[in-house]
Parts: sequence; C-alpha cells; structure tokens
Amino acid sequence: MIILVGGEKGGSGKSCLAQNIAVYLRKEQRATVLMVDCDPQRTTSDWIQERNNSKGLDNINCVQLYGKIRNELLSLNNHYQYVIVDCGGQDNLALRSSMSVADHILIPLRPKRRDLKTVPHMEDIISTCKMVNPKMNAAFVITQCPSLPSLASRILEAKEVCRSFDFEVLDAITFSRNVYDDSEESGKSVMEIEADGKAAAEIRSIVSELFSKGQGNVTQQFEKIRAIG
Ligand SMILES: Nc1ncnc2c1ncn2[C@@H]1O[C@H](COP(=O)(O)OP(=O)(O)OP(=O)(O)O)[C@@H](O)[C@H]1O
Ligand SMILES: [Mg+2]
Repeated sequence: MIILVGGEKGGSGKSCLAQNIAVYLRKEQRATVLMVDCDPQRTTSDWIQERNNSKGLDNINCVQLYGKIRNELLSLNNHYQYVIVDCGGQDNLALRSSMSVADHILIPLRPKRRDLKTVPHMEDIISTCKMVNPKMNAAFVITQCPSLPSLASRILEAKEVCRSFDFEVLDAITFSRNVYDDSEESGKSVMEIEADGKAAAEIRSIVSELFSKGQGNVTQQFEKIRAIG
C-alpha cells in the first residue's frame, strides 16, 4: 500500500506525520515499511539516519527518489507492506507521479489562512490525478492546532474550507505539542517518547480514520497484512 503525505505548504507537518505513521505501522502493527524521501531538504532521510544509528529502535528503510517515480514506487510496493512517501512542499513531478499510484494521500494543513489558500490548487491537482488513479483516497488533516478553547473555532473553520471544495477532511487532528518536535531529534516518534501520550493517540486516530475512508476498514487491512506476514 502506498501512502503519500504531501501538499504544497511548507512546514505543515508532512515529514513529521509521515515519520510517525511509519513508526506506528512498523512498531505497533509489525508491518514492513519503506520510507521514500522526495524532498531535496532530506528531512526524512536525516531522521532515518539518526534513527537507525540509535539503539533499541525498530529499523526502517528509506530511499531518496526524485522526478518521475511512478514505476519505482509500484515496484517497491511489491516488496513492502507499506511504502510511505514524504513529498516535500512543492507541486512537482515527484508529487504528481506519487499521486498517480498512491492508495492514500494525506495532506496536512495548519488552521491558518496561508495554508488554507493552497486548498483550491491541491483540489485541482488531485482531481486531475484521480482520472488516472480513481481508487485513491485523499484527505486533508488539520495539524498543529491551538489548544486554547477560544481558538477552537479556527479548527472548525479550517475543516469547513476543505469541505467547501468537496474534499474529505479527517475528524482526527494534531494539536500543537512540543513532543512532536522533541521526538524528531533522535530519530524517534511520539510513540517512542510517550506511548500512552496524547500525541501518540492522535497518530493512531489519523491512521485509523484514513484507512477507514479507503477501501475496506482498518481491521480488514491489518488482517490482510497479518495474512501476508
Ligand atoms: N502537531 C505538531 N505540534 C508541534 N510541532 C509540530 C507538529 N507537527 C509538526 N511540528 C513541527 O513543525 C515543524 C515542521 O514540520 P515538518 O518538517 O514535518 O513540516 P513539513 O511540512 O515536512 O515541512 P517542509 O515543507 O519544509 O518539508 C517541525 O519542527 C515539526 O516538529
Ligand atoms: Mg518535510
């Protein structure tokens, strides 16, 4: 299964989300996972390097791919249960070719005007890619939300903007929490800092809701993995 975490907005939390999802599937679902880093900034490759140099963490493989990567992704998908693509923050060939084969596309957005301004263009790209990849399940997820109750309306408004483009937006969100930033330092995920913490629960909810919106529900998908494994 190919999961793409993409979008045009820098700093929305794409790499952070891709990494935490990878660890969740590797560590808690015991799946085989490959990360594909398409971003010349190498955020995910550097994180993987830190991770694989640290003792006691589940190893995750990572490759860097750029440009027209459709065929490479399809071929890698035969060898891993999950291929997780971190596409960086631009509309480029790697993003579009990943979209043409991805099973799930997750687009993080902060509840901020500049992030929400990218929704119409993302909708354009996704509609075009859906013509070649009709089975794709694409959803926005609102990230780095403020926890102040007085700002809760911003989260709801952000979801409304996505829905106004007839777009799936997950109920699950991430709040702005230091543990996301702190965990990256040593190649860790939020689950490895605080397994029962709120951030870990956010990641589990995001994966579970994303998969439930795709083909088959999450339990069926995990059963399929166990059967293959
Ligand atoms: N929910 C969150 N709470 C707090 N900090 C977060 C959260 N999600 C991500 N961050 C932090 O925000 C910063 C940017 O995140 P990240 O690098 O994942 O963004 P990105 O979308 O991949 O950026 P780029 O477009 O440059 O690739 C990182 O320092 C990360 O730790
Ligand atoms: Mg990134």
